[in-house]
Amino acid sequence: MIGFENVRKEYPGGTIAVEDFSLEVASHESMVLVGTSGSGKTTLMRMINRMVDPTSGRVHIDGDDVAGLDPVKLRRSVGYVMQASGLLPHRTVLDNITTVPVLRGTSKNEARSRAHELMETVGLDAALASRYPAQLSGGQQQRVGVARGLAADPNILLMDEPFGAVDPIVRGELQQELLHLQRDLRKTIVFVTHDIDEAFLVGDRVVILRPGGVIAQIGTPQEILADPADDFVASFVGADRGARTLHVERTDGQDVVVDADGRAAGVLDAGGRSAP
Ligand SMILES: Nc1ncnc2c1ncn2[C@@H]1O[C@H](COP(=O)(O)OP(=O)(O)O)[C@@H](O)[C@H]1O
Ligand SMILES: [Mg+2]
Repeated sequence: MIGFENVRKEYPGGTIAVEDFSLEVASHESMVLVGTSGSGKTTLMRMINRMVDPTSGRVHIDGDDVAGLDPVKLRRSVGYVMQASGLLPHRTVLDNITTVPVLRGTSKNEARSRAHELMETVGLDAALASRYPAQLSGGQQQRVGVARGLAADPNILLMDEPFGAVDPIVRGELQQELLHLQRDLRKTIVFVTHDIDEAFLVGDRVVILRPGGVIAQIGTPQEILADPADDFVASFVGADRGARTLHVERTDGQDVVVDADGRAAGVLDAGGRSAP
């Protein structure tokens, strides 16, 4: 479990990136923070692995205040996947994936065989292991980024706009693969995006942020779609335009989530709420 308690972040120079943020992310949950650029998403995410320390308030993981944890150990125990993959350009794919496990003391051989497994898991051909990042497509680089984030088998995976730099088709493939992975791995995922459709696809729950890390609404995609908290949320999810990619329709006594082309994307379970 990850907890934020009344967290505030004021950067030197006076920008208040996060005013007063509280949230609990359950173990094995996929939680998406979504908001426009500058709303404090990256700042919030980086407080989890102490790449950013809060000005006040507390972040804890399974009850331990992260302020009391060694930042280097913490960063090696939490997977982190960022936009444009963040790979080391002068290291091969295999070495990029094995870096953290080897730093944590895993033998080179063990780290390598695990890296080959992970490459298969994320859909990378084994022949790519000896290539350098610049010799890969954008989508392949992001896959390596995901494999690297998973390499130390962390309980927590932080993903900061991980698919933001690839074209829409590859992005869709990567999103689907993440959903498949998560079905098996059940990591605790905190995923940041500015794309509401991606948020609804990836998140068990979604937090919609206003500037300053102010929570406009938190809920399952179904809850938010069916009942936006206010005009800001309605506008953000596109409910006011009637042009959302996803909407809820009642068919044969079931609430069905339908995409823009009229295809059923899913059925709401008993906990979901129907559209007005
Ligand atoms: N290191 C920093 N120093 C000063 N201001 C920063 C720094 N990092 C982010 N900010 C500011 O904090 C606000 C939130 O930034 P960020 O958390 O990166 O938002 P997001 O990820 O939602 O785009 C922005 O106004 C940004 O300019
Ligand atoms: Mg950001």
